[in-house]
Formats: sequence, C-alpha cells, structure tokens
Amino acid sequence: MLSKRKINKIKLLNNKKDFRLDKFIELALFSRNGYYLRKKPIGRKFDFITSPEISQMFGEIIGVYLLYNWKEKINSKFNLIELGPGNGTLFKDIERTAQIFPNFFKNADVNFIEINKELREIQKKNLKYFRQSKIKWSKTLNFRSKLPSIIYSNEFFDCFPVRQFLNVNNHWFERYVKFNEIENKYYSINKRVISKKILDYLNKLKKQNIYEVSYSRNKYFEQICKYLKKNRGICILIDYGYYKKLKNFTLQAIYNHKKTSIFENIGQQDISSHVNFNELIEIAKQNKLQINEFVTQRDFLIKYGILERKKKLLTKNSNLNKNLLDEEVDRLINSERMGNLFKCLIVSNL
Ligand SMILES: C[S@@+](CC[C@H](N)C(=O)[O-])C[C@H]1O[C@@H](n2cnc3c(N)ncnc32)[C@H](O)[C@@H]1O
Repeated sequence: MLSKRKINKIKLLNNKKDFRLDKFIELALFSRNGYYLRKKPIGRKFDFITSPEISQMFGEIIGVYLLYNWKEKINSKFNLIELGPGNGTLFKDIERTAQIFPNFFKNADVNFIEINKELREIQKKNLKYFRQSKIKWSKTLNFRSKLPSIIYSNEFFDCFPVRQFLNVNNHWFERYVKFNEIENKYYSINKRVISKKILDYLNKLKKQNIYEVSYSRNKYFEQICKYLKKNRGICILIDYGYYKKLKNFTLQAIYNHKKTSIFENIGQQDISSHVNFNELIEIAKQNKLQINEFVTQRDFLIKYGILERKKKLLTKNSNLNKNLLDEEVDRLINSERMGNLFKCLIVSNL
C-alpha cells in the first residue's frame, strides 16, 4: 500500500473539498504515484492476465484479420498503432503471423501508445529482435500523420476513469469522493446533480436508475473516429463491456487477483470499468464510420478461425500439450469465461 505520505500527495491536490469520482480514479491510476505509472501489472505472475498472455492464438487471429484488411483495402504505406501494448505480447504474435506476408511490415510505421514507463522498457526488451527504429513510442495519440491507419487495442478502454450517477426518488445524484482526516482514508458521498446539460441527458434515460459514463473514454474514441474519417483506416478494439442498459455499476478494483474497494491499496491496485459499447458505436456512427463488427470475443475468434488454428498447431507440432491448448482456447471463448463478457468492435473508413 502507498505510504501515508504518498496518499497525502494525492490528497493534497484536493484536500479542501470533495471531488469527482473520475478525478479520484485518474489520480489513483495515472498520477506520479498511480498504479499505471509505477506498477508492472500484466502477466501470469502479476495482478491480471489478458487474452494475448493466455494464448498466442489470440494475436494470430487478430494478425490475420489485420493482414487481410491491409492487403485488400490499404496496400500502401500506413500507420500501425497499438494502444496500451502491455508486455508487447499481442504485437509479437501479430508480427510473427505477418512473416508470411513481409510487405505488411515493410509498409508499416509502427506506433505504440503507452503511458507506463516501466512497460515501455519491457516492450523494448521483449521486442528487441524487431527493428527498433521502426517502432515509435508516445504517451498520447498524435494525429499529425496523413497516412491511413490500423489502430488496435486489447483491454485499453477499460482503464479510463468513470463518473457514476444514481436516481433516488426521482432525483439524480452523482458519486463524489471525500477524504477523512481522522481515519486517513477516502470514502464516497452522493451530491445532487445541478448541471442542466447532464440532467437533461439523465432524464432521457428510460427506466434506468443508474448511469456510469467515461467522458474521457468517449472523447478519446471520438478523436480516433475523426482521424479515421479524415485519413482513412480501421480501428479494432477488444474489451470487456456491455451494450444494453446497466443493472449495476461496473467500476471495480482488483488487488492480488481479488476484488477490493477502490479506496484501498491506492496506487497498488488496478481500477477498471466495463466499456459502454452502445456509446462508442453511436460516436462511430455520428462520425459516419462503418461498423464492420460488433460481436462477442467468442464469436470474433471463432469466425476468424481460432478452432482451425488450434487444430493446425496440434497437427504441426506433436510436442504441444493438447489439454493446455484446449484450456487456453476455452478460457478465451467459453461464454461463462471471457467469451461473452469481452466484445470486439471494429469500425472503419476504408
Ligand atoms: C490492461 S493493460 C492491457 C495490456 C495489453 N493490451 C494486453 O492485452 O495484455 C492496459 C495497457 O494500456 C496502458 N494504458 C492505460 N491507459 C493508458 C492511456 N491513457 N494512455 C496510454 N496507455 C495507457 C497500460 O499501461 C497498459 O499497457
């Protein structure tokens, strides 16, 4: 856990009064002492494991999808942009898949958008076999290039801070955060919503007593859509999320593989929320992008050949452990495991 001194550093920014939940999450994740700037979170040994870390087949299927779209619809110089590459595992699997078709990487300007300095170093180390000069790292997306782009991400959009609203007896409240000086810890309070713009929106939500929104996530995605509209390209994002109305808030904190309160272990634990895909799809439509796919991870991986790929791997290499491969694929596509919770959204202007 962060020392009292470090908690106070986060607190000092807002010590006078209560502040919004998204501001708290932003500080807990992205401030100097925040989780994403100081922890190495991803992998079997660490806080959570992601799909590319579970199986190489995940990245191979995405790789084939990217290759096909580039060949059919771009076939010239382009930006290949990964958002939040983690350990670089997804890229490694895509890069290996693309070896059958060298023109893909010959034409690619590779950009990694990564906020975590330690993860940037891990990516460099894990990908040192790749011609480093061709990968550019940045903390934020820049929209200067005029080339068409292929942008992809896995578990990136769930990292954005959210705001939460709830309706009690026909009055809308927003969740805020306060610091208790005596107990030296944070707690949440509800404040009446007074913004007319927000109230107008909330009042239009039919039969919905809660609303969770990440304005920063929506804005980030909107910038991507505008960029694709202007310069052509495709965006493939995979994340856990929902499409229909929410029954419960989705904000969660994970520490040592267990769910905890967002107010504990500040700076040491992951805080995430499910992506509202309905809103992302609306943003893509408003920007006149085509919605190529919106499916569950299960349907995406099966449609683009994960079962055939597993068979091929087993036929090609008799040393592979069939039970292990079965388990990996099951974890990715089983509806009770990651299969349904994770969704794949693909939007394009190609
Ligand atoms: C949950 S991890 C997923 C990593 C990887 N995509 C995978 O599937 O294993 C989120 C990644 O996004 C990065 N990240 C989170 N928010 C970011 C932001 N706003 N800008 C840039 N990188 C961010 C994290 O540091 C991390 O690399």
